[in-house]
Amino acid sequence: MTSNTYHQAPDAVAAAPPGCPMHTGWSPLDEDYLADPYPIAAALRDEHPVFYAAGLGHVVVTKMDDIEAVFMNPDVFASTNVQDPIFPLADEAAAVLGADDFDPVAVMSNRPEPDHARIRVYTRQGFSNRRLKALEEYMRERATVLLDQMIASGSPAEYVAALAFPLPAEIVFRFIGFPPEDDAMIKSWCGNRKAFSWGQPSPAEQTAIANGMLDYWRYCRDFVARRRDRRADDFTSELLDAHDADPDPSNGTGISYREVESVVYGISFAGHDPVTALLCNTLRCLLPRRDQWAELCADPSLAAAAVEETLRFESSQVSWRRITTRPTTLGGVDLPAGTRILLNFAAANHEPDVFDDPDTFDIHREKANRHISFGKGIHFCLGAGLARMEARIALELLAGRLPSLRLVEGQQLSFFPNITFRGPDELHLEWDAS
Ligand code: HEM
Repeated sequence: MTSNTYHQAPDAVAAAPPGCPMHTGWSPLDEDYLADPYPIAAALRDEHPVFYAAGLGHVVVTKMDDIEAVFMNPDVFASTNVQDPIFPLADEAAAVLGADDFDPVAVMSNRPEPDHARIRVYTRQGFSNRRLKALEEYMRERATVLLDQMIASGSPAEYVAALAFPLPAEIVFRFIGFPPEDDAMIKSWCGNRKAFSWGQPSPAEQTAIANGMLDYWRYCRDFVARRRDRRADDFTSELLDAHDADPDPSNGTGISYREVESVVYGISFAGHDPVTALLCNTLRCLLPRRDQWAELCADPSLAAAAVEETLRFESSQVSWRRITTRPTTLGGVDLPAGTRILLNFAAANHEPDVFDDPDTFDIHREKANRHISFGKGIHFCLGAGLARMEARIALELLAGRLPSLRLVEGQQLSFFPNITFRGPDELHLEWDAS
């Protein structure tokens, strides 16, 4: 893999920077942390705001001010590592990704300046109000169909399979332009990407995931080639129009054909997995707090505020990464060039210096949107508006149709072991028959 490839695995787990406080006994992959990261993240933050996690080889940053400083200084804290596997890859998986035709390039979250800004001009246009408006109608229609099916199958229901997984996947696939008949196949390739870049899969699992990524990349390339010959009203066609108008990146403004293919490759995962988690997390927060759920049912216009507080209180993304490009100091700790950094959103989103009574979920909280769950600065999440819209629509529909909705009592939630994305694997719901 070359330096501009989409995923680059580290050669080894990095050593601690000299003088940096260290934790040898904690990893974000620990079972108790996966089950409930918040009390542990708060204790870690209170002990050492910046520390090295030995098992992970990353320096962990826990305070909002420090995390924002990192995001706002991309020259020193580069994002080039955000899509990389955290641990070295097994040889067999590396061989799969070494295929001559596996050559997606870094384009958005992991591309440095000035290229990132050049490409973002085009991708931002794709999220125009006109396209989001058109998607909103489709979203409401599809959410209604999926909800009708869930209700018709009767209580109880498993929400991930019924709505939280299919809805965001279908929305982002239509946004890109993938045909509906390919949905099941594409979903099977993207689902386990989380394990590849943010988990610790076994060598056999890595190989299976790598094969899925290779198949998916080949599919993206074929799809973009079909769109090159025959445009439609979708994001991919817009990118191809932009490429036709200005195909040469070397002039500082154009977008290359490979970059178009790579944006398509990257956006499908970014666009559905954390939204699935957000849809579940809104219900995990609201349904046990019956007074706030009842308020929402009486006044569905509170849905947007409920989504925002969920993004703070129980985010679908509890961390993100950076790597230092030169020696620097953060939170009083000296960091050499090449230090891998884990920004701990779970700690910052519950920081008492930033949020009053941070461990209370409150849909009336002022400035809940001070959370860091979509990042900040030049890489701020491009799909934040889309994610908020999907979660709001799903909540409005559920509150309107199923006011008696509740979590099935006694269910044990499980969370896929990874350092960044957080939503339950399954969420069982029940309601009274009308
Ligand atoms: C709840 C759902 C979501 C969460 C929590 C989330 C979170 C994030 C975060 C933390 C970043 C990195 C920001 C930074 O480095 O400063 C990011 C970047 C990004 N997100 Fe999202 N995201 C979500 C949904 C989406 C959706 C629906 C899409 C697209 C359809 C999307 C597309 C992107 C892209 C393209 C970037 C890279 C932007 C850039 O580098 O310029 N995300 N997201």
